Parts: sequence; C-alpha cells; structure tokens
Amino acid sequence: MSRTVYVNGDYVAEEEAKVSIFDRGFLFADGIYEVSSVLDGKLIDNAGHMARLGRSLSELKMARPCSDDELLTIQKELIKRNNLSEGVVYMQITRGAADRDFNFPKDATPSLIMFTQEKNILNSPNAAKGLAVVTLPDIRWHRRDIKTVQLLASSLAKQTAKDMGADDAWLVEDGFITEGTSNNAFIVTDDGQIITRQLSNDILHGITRKAVLKCAEAAGLTLIERPFTPEEAYEAREAFSTSASAFVMPVVKIDDHILGNGVPGPVTQKLRELYIAEAKAAAV
Ligand code: PDD
Repeated sequence: MSRTVYVNGDYVAEEEAKVSIFDRGFLFADGIYEVSSVLDGKLIDNAGHMARLGRSLSELKMARPCSDDELLTIQKELIKRNNLSEGVVYMQITRGAADRDFNFPKDATPSLIMFTQEKNILNSPNAAKGLAVVTLPDIRWHRRDIKTVQLLASSLAKQTAKDMGADDAWLVEDGFITEGTSNNAFIVTDDGQIITRQLSNDILHGITRKAVLKCAEAAGLTLIERPFTPEEAYEAREAFSTSASAFVMPVVKIDDHILGNGVPGPVTQKLRELYIAEAKAAAV
C-alpha cells in the first residue's frame, strides 16, 4: 500500500515525492536526520530527538526549515494519515538545492522530508533471541556526534556483517569499541557493572542510550562510562545495543564468542522492560 510522505510543505503519495538532483543531501550528504519510534500511534522520546536535531543543525550551520512545533505537527499528521501504530518516523533536513559547489550556497532553502515505516519493535524476533555481532574497523569520519546522512561506512559494515552470517557489527577504533553501526554498544561485566563508552565526538549521543542509563541508575545498577575492548566484550556476561528503532537489543555472540548461555541475559531483559515502560508512559 502506498504511504503518504511529506516533502517540502506537501503531503503526497510516495510515488509522487520528488527532490531536486541538485539537493546537497544527494550530492554532498549535506544533511542530517532523526528517527523517532512510534508505539500505539505515539512518539517515543521525541523531545530528545528534536533537541539533537537542533544541535546537528547548528553544528553544520544549517538553517532550520521550521519550528519544533511544526515538525511535531507533521510527524503526527503522517502517523495519522498512514494509520501507523508501531514503527518509526524518519525526518531528514538538507541544506537544500543549489548548483554543485563545495562551499555552502548563500540562498538555498533547506529541504525537509519525512516518512513513516511500519516495524515490529516490541515483539521483534531478534529481541527474543539476541543478535550475533562481528567487530569491524570503524572507518567513519570524526564527527559521529552529528547525525548526518553520510551513512555509507555504516551501511558497508552492516552488509559485511550480514555477508559473514552475523546480524550487525560493532565498530573498533584504536583497539576499543566505539558503537554499533546504528546503535550504542553496552556490556555487562561478570560482577554486574554496565559499561558503555563515554560521550564524545567518537559516537552518536544516543537518545535511547541516555534514557536507558537513567533507567539503570533508578534500578540501582552500577554504570561506568568508559571505552571497552573487544576482548573485554568477549568475556562479558551480557551485552546489548540501544537505538530508537530497536530499543534495548540483546547481543548474545560477539565474533566467535558466545556470551553467557547464548540467550538474552537478565540485566538486558530488565533494562528493555524498564525502558519500554518509561517510554510508553512519556509518549506523545
Ligand atoms: N540510528 N549510534 C549510531 C551510529 C546510530 O545511527 C544510532 C541511531 C544510535 C542510537 O541513537 P538513538 O538511540 O538516538 O536512536 C547510535 C538510527 C536508529 C538509524 O539510523 O536508523
């Protein structure tokens, strides 16, 4: 069935949606994006995604196409028009269309597109069985804190993981895991400590990561934000990743190492439950 999508002021059928071949998102990956999940037709953690969108725009000195309230109105209208109960709303802003030139155009109008995707997030089979991940070199640029649409390195890593028979990749730089291809990476040590890399330009500042850390703290769990190595991860009792599109996702195998009993562990499952409860309660 054809979706209704949003393109620069218009709600149109997906087949009708068009952007210019001169759009800088297309030519230079000069654009940013956000993905907000939807449960029961309501947006999850959306204020956090909006705040990060604002930060990405300002880091790239990119104009804002409209206010946060207007963005929310479009998100909600798309959820309604597409009758979306569970899935995601994707939002992308680029610097706009201008004749090809590395320097920023003086008068380009930012381009805004949004669309919905249905997705089984709560009862995803992967959440029940856990993921197998492989470690691969992190070849991305050095501003991973900005959520840009230049996702080729992540796409290549995910495809390599798939070709190797795994579900995803955790990326490694200077001997330490940075994050997953499209998620933040966590391990739970033998003595129950939850470890995830600290915030810096090396990783995306995940909105789900932040909310899950808050849940862990409220549950009295020990959190440590520091880099960890693949070798530490192999020895971990549990591991998981976090993202808006998968929430808390158990990881049960890293390279050739099976963690624990090879099934999602209790800390991971607890955090998934706590996060889902919190997220639903605060949904808009
Ligand atoms: N990815 N790290 C990277 C590299 C990501 O692309 C993402 C999100 C995250 C998790 O961030 P958040 O919890 O705010 O979703 C971490 C989205 C879901 C995507 O590209 O589809």
